[in-house]
Amino acid sequence: MILLSPEAETVLKTRYLLPNETPSVLFQRVASYVAKAEADYGHDAASYAQEYYELMSSLTFLPNSPALLNAGKPHAQLAACFVLPVEDSLEDIFETLKHTALIHQSGGGTGFSFSRLRPEGDKVDASGGTAGGPVSFLHIYDKATQVVKQGAARSGANMAVMQVDHPDIFTFITAKRRHDVLNNFNLSVGVTDDFMRAVQNKDDFALVNPRNGKVVKMVPAKEIFDLLVQMAWENGEPGLFFIDTVNKANPTPGLGRFESPNPCSEQPLLPFESCVLGSINLTKMLKKTGDEEILDEDKLARTVRTAIRFLDNIVDINHYPLQQVTEATKRTRKIGLGIMGLAELFISLDIPYASEQAVQLTRSIMKFITAEARAMSAQLGQVRGNFPAFRDSVYIQQGYHYMRNATVTTIAPTGTISIIAGCSSGIEPLFGLAMTRNVLEGKIITSVNQVVVEYLNRLGLLTDSVYEQIVAAGSVVGLPLPDRVKRVLATAHEIEPYWHVAHLAAAQKYTDNGVSKTVNLPKNATLADVAEVFFTSYAKGCKGVTVYRDKSRDQQVLTHGIAC
Ligand code: CDP
Repeated sequence: MILLSPEAETVLKTRYLLPNETPSVLFQRVASYVAKAEADYGHDAASYAQEYYELMSSLTFLPNSPALLNAGKPHAQLAACFVLPVEDSLEDIFETLKHTALIHQSGGGTGFSFSRLRPEGDKVDASGGTAGGPVSFLHIYDKATQVVKQGAARSGANMAVMQVDHPDIFTFITAKRRHDVLNNFNLSVGVTDDFMRAVQNKDDFALVNPRNGKVVKMVPAKEIFDLLVQMAWENGEPGLFFIDTVNKANPTPGLGRFESPNPCSEQPLLPFESCVLGSINLTKMLKKTGDEEILDEDKLARTVRTAIRFLDNIVDINHYPLQQVTEATKRTRKIGLGIMGLAELFISLDIPYASEQAVQLTRSIMKFITAEARAMSAQLGQVRGNFPAFRDSVYIQQGYHYMRNATVTTIAPTGTISIIAGCSSGIEPLFGLAMTRNVLEGKIITSVNQVVVEYLNRLGLLTDSVYEQIVAAGSVVGLPLPDRVKRVLATAHEIEPYWHVAHLAAAQKYTDNGVSKTVNLPKNATLADVAEVFFTSYAKGCKGVTVYRDKSRDQQVLTHGIAC
């Protein structure tokens, strides 16, 4: 018996279940497909299929959506994240667009750097004319995505990065100022250490033509930074992608540099690499001792190990949409295990999200998970072989002898799979304490989050009037409840930006890849508040940051979890 929330049933029914499939059959389909890889290593696929089935049907762990949608189908493509190179020629730009369409059709999302394209107005030898510039091609990619998504099971999402020293950087930063354009793209500026230094020192900064390496002009770094802050304040975009920080953590620097992450920013990849993600539902990782709930570390360790095995199997059995992707992905065998339900775990443990205790727990949970995941990957490496680029990787210098996967952890937004699992998304705080949904005949009902109900019940504080007021406001602000309880139940926009950044940085410290997390700001936040978030997240070693000021745009960006 699978205990699904009504929202989960709806998501599965409308998008994920095959004709005549029940949720249980869906999880069997995914489990037996992924377990097939075990047979190649001489294991009993059926017993692994049973193990994987239990993990998913108990909603303890779920892989990213393409795995749930596609496993078992012909040419099944199970990975969510891809990065493609965009080279500076018409032929290459449209070749990459073709590749993008194929990836979107297969259920994946794509990230690109547009930094290598010559700037607008630059000369074009072949035609004797002038170049349209990267942003003009961005619009073409966006239109193509719009058309392809009508035929795909899940709408294709894109990330475009432009490095901050590109001559078209001002056009790029303001490219989404109008709200009706580039809706299939998230934008991030590739921010370098040099740039951050120049901003701090109020220096001029060189904009360089990537075609010939010539400095086109010098501009005050602060002018670029201020525009970035202004647009992020207005719009939530662009985000910042701290490109040097990201590259310092490259496990295989000999294979190339990271120039872009995937659409929701959590997964930097080398050109043509892909990555499959999966997330552990932390609300299932609690155990009771007496009256108290505590984290069940044994269960977490077991879950991590099985999940890593599951994700590694997918690298073997996946049908990649392009030969170049097959080769690049199998060279490093990157996988990304993460978490969801963190905010609800804190509530069950009676810890405010906005507290040093919570930040330390975020850090220690990810430290624990990455250590277990690496141990499992090393064990698989010993039995199944290291990832082919292991010899040229940083693991050798770190004294490892075995590693099956160049990366093992990533924190995804879990936009859809957290709905299926019925828990809060990724490492985000709760957006509201009550949820509204449509039921039969257009009737709308609002109910209070079950974890919140249990928490208040345990404290003997759940009166009818408290319940009704939470339903009405989605929050406990103004209710006659103890201060501590109000702090534990604070929602995303009630939490100071400082704590959002603190959790982002704490999770990042022990996550191989990136961390998806939006830094929420109240509606009355100032430009200086946004600038402060950018500086602190950079100083704390985050790989990127995205802000969202309450009500600053009608349509929220992808990181907020679009269903399918
Ligand atoms: O929860 P789910 O597995 O559906 O996805 P997610 O964790 O919200 O997003 C993970 C990744 O899937 C994103 O970073 C994108 O690379 C990709 N994605 C996509 O391609 N298209 C979407 N509509 C949503 C996500």
